[in-house]
Amino acid sequence: MDSEVVLLSGNANINLSKKICEYLKVPLGKALVSQFSDGESRIEVLENLRGKDVYLLQSLSNPANHYIMESLVMIDACRRASANKITLVAPYFGYARQDRKTGPRTPISAKLLAELYEAAGIDRLLSLELHNSAIQGFFNVPVDHLFANSLFYEYFSKLPIKDLVIISPDSGGVERSRALAKKFDCGLAIIDKRRDKPNDSAVMNIIGSVKGKNCLIVDDIVDTGGSLVRACDALMQEGALEVRAAISHAVLSGPALKRIQESSLVQVLVTDSIPLSKQAQCTDKIVQISISSLVAEAIHRIHNYDSISSLFI
Ligand code: R5P
Repeated sequence: MDSEVVLLSGNANINLSKKICEYLKVPLGKALVSQFSDGESRIEVLENLRGKDVYLLQSLSNPANHYIMESLVMIDACRRASANKITLVAPYFGYARQDRKTGPRTPISAKLLAELYEAAGIDRLLSLELHNSAIQGFFNVPVDHLFANSLFYEYFSKLPIKDLVIISPDSGGVERSRALAKKFDCGLAIIDKRRDKPNDSAVMNIIGSVKGKNCLIVDDIVDTGGSLVRACDALMQEGALEVRAAISHAVLSGPALKRIQESSLVQVLVTDSIPLSKQAQCTDKIVQISISSLVAEAIHRIHNYDSISSLFI
């Protein structure tokens, strides 16, 4: 990376930002990212940004409203400081589950966020496992969309798991699961999930054979853990041997940890797109791997106008 690059970080995931900087051998840019006494974001970038390409690292995780506003204010500061290009690096892009109108008088919050970030002044978005790939089209600036499958493959291919079958926990995740099944050269099963209200799901049917198999559920988000645990129960009822999960974004709100701990799940692999709480770190079924080298390599290639498609599987 050259001297024309400045990496800045919001407060959402400082550890990940530091690892990305380490990989790129670029020091984290100096900035005051703080709050006024009433809670408003208070930002001051403490180095020259004129003509620089700024990469702003911020996951839009809990408290999402605060971290979104913090990053918007940072982008505004960078633009007014005459940065050349501003790339928002948001490994976890929050508010993405509201990606279409699901009923009368409901919002499309993913589109609203795209408009807010463009109005603030981003030139590009780099994200990982967007809830819906179509969110790329909500932006008029380029979006680079990374996938976690290569990391999941690297981890699970080292374990002695026989008779593996990849599970898509809903119809929306089939593409992601199919890609991983192809990589493992194994079968795919799909769960027909019906949701009566947000954060509540009911497993209705399993399409495909899981009897006597070791199942790996692949999903983008584990939030309350309801979908995951119910999917696991359904698979066990159908005669699965063991059930594991690989989830990109460990939102883990409300009863998630308790549900996972009390479930039949053998292991839940998550990434560090969102920092784990202390309690989650102590939950022995949860294993965390880092996306830092994947994201850092993508930044390196974007900056050098290289292709990033070889980072996908
Ligand atoms: C849904 O479409 C997502 O892919 C996740 O399955 C869902 O957001 C997980 O939510 P929860 O853990 O609250 O069931």
